[in-house]
Amino acid sequence: MTIPSLYSNIIGGERLQARTGDTIEVLDPSDGQAFATIPRSGAAEVDEAVRAAHAAFRGPWGRLTATERGRVLTRLAELIRANHEELAALECRDTGKPLAQAKVDIQACARYFEYYGGAADKLHGETIPYAAGSTVMAIRVPHGVTGHIIPWNYPAQIFGRSAGASLAAGNACVVKPAEDACLTPVRLAQLALEAGVLPGALNVVCGLGSEAGAALTAHPGIAHISFTGSTETGALVAEAAARRHSPATLELGGKSPQIVFADADLERAVPVIVNAIIQNAGQTCTAGSRVLIERPVYERVMQMLAERFTALRVGPGGRDLDCGPVINRKQRLKIQAMVDAAAADGVRIAAQGRLADGAPEGGHYVMPTLLGEVPADHIIAQQEVFGPVLAAIVFDTEEEAVEIANGTDYGLTAGVWTENGGRQLRVAHAVEAGQVFINNYGAGGGIELPFGGMKHSGYGREKAFEGLRGFTTVKTIAIQHG
Ligand code: NAI
Ligand code: MG
Repeated sequence: MTIPSLYSNIIGGERLQARTGDTIEVLDPSDGQAFATIPRSGAAEVDEAVRAAHAAFRGPWGRLTATERGRVLTRLAELIRANHEELAALECRDTGKPLAQAKVDIQACARYFEYYGGAADKLHGETIPYAAGSTVMAIRVPHGVTGHIIPWNYPAQIFGRSAGASLAAGNACVVKPAEDACLTPVRLAQLALEAGVLPGALNVVCGLGSEAGAALTAHPGIAHISFTGSTETGALVAEAAARRHSPATLELGGKSPQIVFADADLERAVPVIVNAIIQNAGQTCTAGSRVLIERPVYERVMQMLAERFTALRVGPGGRDLDCGPVINRKQRLKIQAMVDAAAADGVRIAAQGRLADGAPEGGHYVMPTLLGEVPADHIIAQQEVFGPVLAAIVFDTEEEAVEIANGTDYGLTAGVWTENGGRQLRVAHAVEAGQVFINNYGAGGGIELPFGGMKHSGYGREKAFEGLRGFTTVKTIAIQHG
């Protein structure tokens, strides 16, 4: 499939370049070569997009019934499925992820539009018993124009979960995709127009975070902003939202633990634990980046993990190996520096995968790495690496496991592996995380499951019906009729 070399913003239903004509080169993470350009937009394009969104919200898009909006989004889901090969190839080239993983992402994106298309006309308000002779309604209303800053790790999926829910709730959207991964968001916005999402209801503005992203977060016309990305940028986005006195949903990083008790079904657990850290080369907010292992099975689990890590192969996304490259040079150097610093501190590299033969020079390849036994308070066991690096930690008691699991700033996801029913639930309740998986681990997907963080992993909930509610606010109407 040939991939076009020129991408445009989608504003008010039009394909537009930046007014200055400035562009950003799109680099292929698998070989470092430029293959396309996106517009380098700034405050002017963001403003135009916000105006177009307001016109749609006050105009034809805002007048659609919930059922009509739902039908349009359902049609978009069908169009995404009809074009899934093209979209997956685009996602694979742009992000470097293995093609099979890109295909899963595109199906998940379609599923978000299907889910929220079906949910649009099922979002009810309430009536409240109040004073005699009165009727009180609490109705759900959209925020208006919502801003969406999405990262480069799962552009299609996060576009679906964020814009899909917002549109279903009746908002109009302005999406700022990451400068490293704009291609599927632009293409999805084109398909949305074909599906009948009215012009201006869904705008995509490409550009740098510090320019287009900062302009969007500061824009007074944005009534709600949702952000997925780093804890640092998340704080900037929340600060800007606070100045406008408008709500924000932040989905930030994680240092998610997989807790393996001695009675766990290890044959089942180990492949899932490996997949949860190598999926998308570890660039997943929910990556299970710490494995906490009960002492009696520590050596055995490490041996099982090491066998799998040693067999992992890394190469171009199109070759569909275990791991693709990471997104860019900055991320590759960050990951390598963190692993090198840990090794210099005496942390043992227990196993590493290998680069596949013939992988191109200039690709941002990082070898999957198993580290053990890592002290629970070491920086590599505390901070998000955002690469295929798993830190193994040993524990002796259930209390200690919970203490280590909760001993980071983050609280996004956790996995608990044990056959003991009481322990499953005790640990699930004690762990500080927005999602806890028992004897499974659900990185990615999970459209129907409320999702979001505790502590520095963020606030607000996305996915599921909960995500839809987040894109509305409640208006109370009290009638005194005697
Ligand atoms: P980032 O948080 O800076 O980028 C995410 C998005 O925010 C991109 O669309 C970017 O253009 C935008 N952005 C950047 N600066 C902005 C600003 N001042 N105002 C508004 N928007 C802005 O993340 P980056 O630098 O690409 O990656 C750094 C680290 O962040 C990674 O190593 C990883 O630890 C974490 N990260 C976490 C993600 C997650 O899924 N939770 C996704 C991407 C990164
Ligand atoms: Mg890219």
